[in-house]
Amino acid sequence: MRIVLVGPPGAGKGTQAAFLAKKLSIPHISTGDLFRANISQGTELGKRAKSYMDAGNLVPDEVTIGMAKDRMEQEDAANGFLLDGFPRNVGQAEALDGILKEWGVRLDAVLDLEVPEDEVVKRIAGRRICRNDSSHVFHVTYSKPKQEGVCDVCGGELYQRDDDKEETVRKRLEVYHTETEPIIDFYRAQDLVKTIPALGKVNEVTERALAALEG
Ligand code: AP5
Ligand code: ZN
Repeated sequence: MRIVLVGPPGAGKGTQAAFLAKKLSIPHISTGDLFRANISQGTELGKRAKSYMDAGNLVPDEVTIGMAKDRMEQEDAANGFLLDGFPRNVGQAEALDGILKEWGVRLDAVLDLEVPEDEVVKRIAGRRICRNDSSHVFHVTYSKPKQEGVCDVCGGELYQRDDDKEETVRKRLEVYHTETEPIIDFYRAQDLVKTIPALGKVNEVTERALAALEG
């Protein structure tokens, strides 16, 4: 299956993607995680992306689209993938359509995670991620690690993301409304959108998403 996950910052895209990708046996491709891995490795791409991310803005399309395409071309993604955080504006959605057309494949669904804004603010404020791998995600009250400050998956140190400061979060929400939300209508026109109410326990949201994919 080829699936796109959309939703505001803090909606739980990364959290759900980890479970859904495992269940569906497809790789979880997060452009945010790819950028963070490049930043921690000190690559040129990471240096370029960091200033945009720290300001809560989108990284330019010419950097992002190539990076996403390279990842989708890897062998493990040949039979499908779960995209998290890409596409993030209509230009990227059009570019993705072009790439998939060239490969003779199509998206199966776009899952739109719906969460009220006051809840995403709470989720982001308490989020802690792993220094070794930013896809290892916890929350100080909703999803506590067994040992405070330590990743359950790999034992790495947990910390707060640089772009999770209140001021940057406000900017990211604004960018989501102006730049990312329009892709929902773009995909509605292709009859691909399934809206998933994303309040409630993590496993309840996963069940809703799986049911929507079956229906
Ligand atoms: P990215 O990393 O994609 O961030 P985002 O979209 O803002 O999403 P988040 O990672 O903040 O949230 P999430 O929805 O994954 O929530 P999570 O599962 O962690 O992008 C970061 C930056 O990179 C962008 O600002 C941009 O600069 C750049 N970028 C990335 N992609 C780009 C692109 N395509 N084009 C251009 N620029 C790009 O959950 C949040 C918290 O809530 C966690 O603590 C979790 O434990 C908790 N939680 C999750 N589910 C529940 C639940 N059901 N109940 C209670 N708590 C929950
Ligand atoms: Zn970890």
